[in-house]
Amino acid sequence: MRYKNILVEHKSHLATVIINRPNKLNALNKDTLKELSIAFSSLEANSDIKVIILTGSGEKAFVAGADISEFANFSIKEGAKLASKGQKMVFNLIENLSTPVIAALNGFALGGGLELAMACHFRVASTTARMGLPEVSLGVIPGYGGTQRLPQLVGKGRAMEMIMTAGMINAEQALSYGLINYAVPQDELINLCEKLAAKIANNSSVAIGHAINAVNSGFKHDNNGYEVEINAFAECFDTADFKEGTTAFLEKRKAQFPGK
Ligand code: COA
Repeated sequence: MRYKNILVEHKSHLATVIINRPNKLNALNKDTLKELSIAFSSLEANSDIKVIILTGSGEKAFVAGADISEFANFSIKEGAKLASKGQKMVFNLIENLSTPVIAALNGFALGGGLELAMACHFRVASTTARMGLPEVSLGVIPGYGGTQRLPQLVGKGRAMEMIMTAGMINAEQALSYGLINYAVPQDELINLCEKLAAKIANNSSVAIGHAINAVNSGFKHDNNGYEVEINAFAECFDTADFKEGTTAFLEKRKAQFPGK
C-alpha cells in the first residue's frame, strides 16, 4: 500500500514506520492517524515482522502533537469523537499489539506525539529530544491517553507537574523519570533501536505477545480514566480559553487566557 504521510520500511524481521510530514514537525492530522492505523494493523497481521520501530522524519521532531489547525474550530461533540476515535484506532491499537513496538524519539515529542510514544511498548530517545504535554497552554487537555499513561510511566506527581506546567523535559530528565530507556546521540538512535529489535527478534514471538498482554493487563483494572479523559477533553472545546489558546498558536502569538 502507498501512503501519503508515512513511510514503511522493511529490513529482515524488522519494520520501521516513519511519520513523514517534516514541514509540520510530523503533526498528527486525520490522514496520518488513518494511515498509522492501517500500517500497524497490517504489520501485526504479517507473521514475518517480529519488531516495529516508530520514528519521525527529519532531525527536529518525532511528532509535535495533534494537528492544531484541524481541531481549532471543533465543537464538544467533535472533540469527543476526535479523542475516542484516535484512542481506539491508533493509541490503544499500538499498545495492545502482540508485535513489540519501540518508539525512537528523534526530536520533539509533544502532546499527541508523546502520547503516541507512550502507547509504544518502550522508548529510546536522542539526546536532542524534548518531551512534554503542552495541551493546557492551548486551553485543552491531553486526549490520546496522556493523562493515564504518563502517570503510569513517571508517577503521579511528575505527571501532574508536566501536565500543569505544559513544559518540556530533556532526554536526561526523561531518562531519570523512566519515560525513556536510553538517551543516545541522534546518529546512534536508529542503530541502537535496531540492536534492541534484533535481540527481541531472537526470542519467541508467541511468548512476547503473551508477555505484552500480561503486562498491559496489570494496568487495565480500571479503564474509566480513558473515558473521563475523552469527556473532559471534549468539554474544553466549548471554552473561551480553548478558542484563545488555539487561535494564538495559529497566529503565532502568546495566548491571553480569559479564564473561562
Ligand atoms: N499542529 C499543527 N502544526 C504544527 C504543530 C501542531 N501540533 N506543531 C508544529 N506545527 C507547524 C507550525 O505551525 C509550522 O508550520 P508553518 O511553517 O506552516 O507555519 C511548522 O510546523 C514548524 O513549526 P514552528 O512552530 O515554526 O517551529 P519552531 O521550531 O518555532 O517550534 C515547537 C517548535 C515544537 C516548539 C512548536 O512548533 C510548537 O509549540 N508546536 C505545537 C506543540 C503543541 O502544542 N502540541 C500539542 C498539540 S495538542
